[in-house]
Parts: sequence; structure tokens; C-alpha cells
Amino acid sequence: MATSKVFDNFVDFGDNPYLTGPHEPVRKEITESTLECIGEIPKDFSGIYLRNGPNQRFQPYGSYHWFDGDGMVHSAHFEDGKVSYKNRWVTTKAFEIESNKKKSIWPGLMDTPDRALETAWGSDLWLKDNSNTDITIHAGKAISTFYQCGEAYSLDPLNLNTLGSIDLRSIGARQMSAHCLTDEATGDLLFFDYAAKPPYMTYGVLNKKSELVNFTEIDLPGARLPHSMAFTTNYSILMDLPMFWDPKLLKEDIHKVTFYPEIQSRFGVLKRMASGDTIRWFEADPCYIYHVINSWEEGAEVVLDVCRMSTPVPSPEVRQKLSGPYGTMLAWLKLDACYHRYRFNLETGNTKEERIDDLLTEFPTINNRYGGLPSRYSYHVSLADTDVILFDGLVKIDSNTKNSQTYKFPEGSFGSEMQFAPRNNSQTEDDGYLLTFVTNTKSNKGEIQIFPAEDLSKGPLCQLIVPQQIPPGFHSSFVLPENL
Ligand SMILES: [Fe+2]
Repeated sequence: MATSKVFDNFVDFGDNPYLTGPHEPVRKEITESTLECIGEIPKDFSGIYLRNGPNQRFQPYGSYHWFDGDGMVHSAHFEDGKVSYKNRWVTTKAFEIESNKKKSIWPGLMDTPDRALETAWGSDLWLKDNSNTDITIHAGKAISTFYQCGEAYSLDPLNLNTLGSIDLRSIGARQMSAHCLTDEATGDLLFFDYAAKPPYMTYGVLNKKSELVNFTEIDLPGARLPHSMAFTTNYSILMDLPMFWDPKLLKEDIHKVTFYPEIQSRFGVLKRMASGDTIRWFEADPCYIYHVINSWEEGAEVVLDVCRMSTPVPSPEVRQKLSGPYGTMLAWLKLDACYHRYRFNLETGNTKEERIDDLLTEFPTINNRYGGLPSRYSYHVSLADTDVILFDGLVKIDSNTKNSQTYKFPEGSFGSEMQFAPRNNSQTEDDGYLLTFVTNTKSNKGEIQIFPAEDLSKGPLCQLIVPQQIPPGFHSSFVLPENL
């Protein structure tokens, strides 16, 4: 059955490159279960691929940054060789307030904070919580979150209705950042937040019944901007990285993200259920990390695999090339991360680190059944040489052999963060399929593509054509039928 809900406001988004072209927001929420299919949908897997991302509804308050857009979740539900697509905005508290007023209320990341606003979120409590960044499956619900901390919104993974926010403060926690993680082995949800004022970081655990079973402050030397965390069977790993708001300017309410190459990176290893004052910090070379690949224990060592940026600030060449009114945003969104491995020795306190792969890749995912456990394969996107972020290819990396497989999309098509869908009764780590949404700028329609995980370089087994565009976005998850 096909349904469609059109949002009536017409907005001229001007020439902002993150509101036009492939990044132009869609105006309709649709449900479509009859999709044109090129190839054949494999019948030996089931589940739901979900992807969050910015999809601005109203004329922006001021300067628009890609991170400011209202969260919209796209889903592809696979069952018995059939698929249904839908997309829905996350109806956050801010989205409802702005919908009632029919305009944007909150300044964005590139604007000046408006401290007169009664309600705001974010690590410095002035941004709109648009819940646009991440989506994680926990206790049968999809949890959407915001990269700069906010509320955790609970969505029905089947119909994508927003069920409301988890009232973190009433259960004793504070806010939740994007990149909270579900341990599929226990059902625990591990989360953190960060803030401009002490406590600069908190860490918590919700069990599979959504009860808060650990919550603790993490002592940091100042306000930090961590983007993600990691976990193993016994430990959680939190980050104190040397890219953060200039502390002097922050006192004047100016948020200037600055990289301090003279300061070491620090990784805090904490027993999952322990108090923050027992955390052990391991030092490593200065860098910034957006995304974790996986982490696990090997004897006395905690292994942490990430996509690491050694120089996270734009180079003079990039700054010169990307000038103009949107130049600063475009330059800072240039990601040049590589696969990197840390080993933190719990007996000696030493850190070892090495680059695993020289390819520039980002938005890594794994077979989620291996989360916190030793894993070999990870699935990344490659970044197109364009002013805006677009993913022009897919990469599978084998960290044992350091070999990789790549697939390049045809010109004008761009992918999304992949998810691994295991084949029914799969026995090996890569026995399954890789799912991605595609933004096809030639047809101006979205696509759902399915690749064989054993060898993604073979190209898609199946392309399903969605009647409207699917703009590029951020993070995704895959819901196994047993987790619904
Ligand atoms: Fe992220």
C-alpha cells in the first residue's frame, strides 16, 4: 500500500550546498511497498535497515549547517523477499514547537547562541535537539540521538512513529550523545554525554529493561567534544581528544573548535558497571576520531579500531579552495580518516597504535553480532572529491589480511552508511548482505541497494527504486527480527 503526506510549507533554501542538489530536503513522508526492482531481492534474510539524517523542514533561523537539519529516518523493511520503504521526521519537542509556530526558532551551529530561549539542548544548552544523527536499536525500539547531546527519542522501528523521549533526568541521568551503543550479547545500552560546564562528561548503562543500572561522572580537564565511544565484553572506552572549544573564547560565549596538536589524545577504559573515578587513561598521539569500528579484549589488552584523523583541521589549500559564504562549513566537513588500531595494555598501562589501511574511508560498520567481540571485517564508505560530503563508493576492509574490496557507484549516484544483514542461520562473520540507500542525482529518485557481503566489489544484487529522492545522511542500524 502506498501512502503519502505532503508538508505544505514551501521553502526557498537558496544556494546553501547542504540544502540544494543531492542534499535538498524531501517534502513528503511516504510509505511505498511496491517498488520497481532491478535484480532480485534475496529471500534468505529479514529485518529493517534504518538510517537517520538531516532533513530541514523550515527556512533556517540563520546560517544553516548540515548538522542543524531536522532528523528524518528512512527505513527499508525486508521480509520473505519483499521490501517496504518509508520515511518520517523524528517529531522531537523542538520539531513540534517549530511546527506549531510554522518557523525555525533556534539558531544553528554557525549562529550566535540565543540564551533567552527557554528550552534548548546540546552540550552547551543552546542548540535545537534535532535528533538527526544516529539511530540505535535497544529493547525493541529505535533510539534516535543528536551528536551534540540531547534527549534520546524512542521510535517504533516498524512504522517510524516517534513514541517520545526517554526522560533521562527523571531516571537520574543527564543527556545522551549520538553513538550510544547496544551490546547485542546482553541487551545493555551504553551511553555518554558531554557538556561545556562540569561535569564535563557522564557515562551510563541502560539494561535491556531500560532501567538505569549505572550512571557516573567522568572527570576531564575541561570541556571536550568527543563524538563516539566503544565497548568490549567488560569495558567501556571513552575519549578525551585534543580538539575542543577554545576555553578562553568559550567564557565569552564563542564556540571556536580548535585542534591542539601539542596535547595527547587520551582514552579512558572503565569497567562497564564501575564508578567513573576508577577509569584508567591511556595516552596516544594527538588526533580526532569521529567513528569507532569495534573494540574487544585480547589477553591483557583492549583493542580499539577506529577511523582516525591525524590532522582534523582544514589545510590552507582546502581553506583557499572552499572560500565564499559556506567555505568554513565546507572545509571543516572534509573528512580524511584512515583505519587505525590502538592496543591499551591493562597490565603495563602502555598504548600501541598502528595504521591498518591507507584508504580514506569513514562511517564504518560491522556485523553487529560481533560488537565488543573480536571482528575482522568492517564496511566503510569512500568520500567523493566534491565540495559537499558525498559517498561515492563502498569499501570492505579485512583487518587480518589488510586487504580491501571496493565498489564505485556510477557517476551521479552516492551511497549511505551501510548495514550488514546476516543471512538466515549465518555461521561466519561476513555471511550476509550489505544494505545502503542511494541518492541518484540523475533520476532524482532514491534507491535501496543490496550487495553480497562476501564480495561487495561484484556490485549490487538488487536495486529497488524509491519514488522520491533519499538525500545523503548520517548513521544507520539494522533491526534483526528477533530484536523487534
Ligand atoms: Fe557520527
